[in-house]
Amino acid sequence: MAQNYPYPEYKNKVVDCTVVPDLTKISGKSVVITGGAGGMGEEATRAFANAGAFVTFGDLNEEAGKHLEAELYPNARFVRCNVVDFESQKAMFKAAMEHSPSKTVDVAIANAGISKSDPVYKGELINGEPQAPDLATLDVNTTGVLYTCHLARFYFMKHELITGRDRCLIVLSSTAGYADVPGRLIYMMSKFAARAVMRCLRRSTAYDGIRVCTLAPWFVETKLVTPEVMQVIKSKGVKFANAADAAAAMIRIVSDTTINGRCFTIVNREEAVLGYYDMDVDDFPEASRAAKQQSEFLAVSHGA
Ligand SMILES: NC(=O)c1ccc[n+]([C@@H]2O[C@H](COP(=O)([O-])OP(=O)(O)OC[C@H]3O[C@@H](n4cnc5c(N)ncnc54)[C@H](O)[C@@H]3O)[C@@H](O)[C@H]2O)c1
Repeated sequence: MAQNYPYPEYKNKVVDCTVVPDLTKISGKSVVITGGAGGMGEEATRAFANAGAFVTFGDLNEEAGKHLEAELYPNARFVRCNVVDFESQKAMFKAAMEHSPSKTVDVAIANAGISKSDPVYKGELINGEPQAPDLATLDVNTTGVLYTCHLARFYFMKHELITGRDRCLIVLSSTAGYADVPGRLIYMMSKFAARAVMRCLRRSTAYDGIRVCTLAPWFVETKLVTPEVMQVIKSKGVKFANAADAAAAMIRIVSDTTINGRCFTIVNREEAVLGYYDMDVDDFPEASRAAKQQSEFLAVSHGA
């Protein structure tokens, strides 16, 4: 049975991504961002802080974090954080509660992620024997995200959903969470997992007042993409998306509390006027067998 929360149950409704976000809705929000000192996370930290939010951002990179904190003072606070260390993420969320002017956590962005060469698909042999693969990518991109979800859910529930407050989780997937990418087994798995987080939690919004979305960026020129890969991508004439547009897509989601359970892909501006659009691929055709199974899942979940 749904509680009396202002956000309705998830319905498949495509978001118009040509609408320019209302930045007044960002002002005063308390936003937590993992991996917020580099790449798309850095752009997000800057965009939210410049729009009047208070951003608590965690990152392994202390030098970049402190530098960004000084640039954005007093609207941002850096906490050194390794997302796979639960206590270090907890300290970041606690800092957001303590130091944000609102003493809340309204928005959490599970952005930190890594991409290494894939030792499961193409592992090293030692003396002709397979070795236990290094699963660091899986750990950061899934364990780290689950810790963020868990902590966000705990801290979101500490405030009422009154005007100016929100409970909004954004998880970084990737177009590799939607397409087939040969040889990228661990990364693909981790980015499909991000999508699973969204599709699970969007069905609870009417019960806990927490809305959730994913972003699926196309290639973006950040340190995540090695110079060798960058070279190959460019040689094929593939066009990059912009990190600033990823941040703008996050701002759009946070600015509009009617958005829930959607995935925005981040693309080159030639493909979308603001550099992002609603992918509309996380629902089944109405009369399909899968849609029937989906409604049966809903009927047996939440103790309904
Ligand atoms: N760049 C792309 O082409 C691309 C495409 C699709 C999805 N993504 C996803 O977007 C997210 C951001 O990627 P990016 O391109 O901005 O990467 P990036 O490497 O430029 O930035 C990631 C930031 O996360 C931090 N970080 C890494 N591991 C961490 C850890 N264990 N704990 C805390 N912080 C950590 C890094 O220090 C860095 O500041 C990732 O989840 C990535 O998988 C990237």
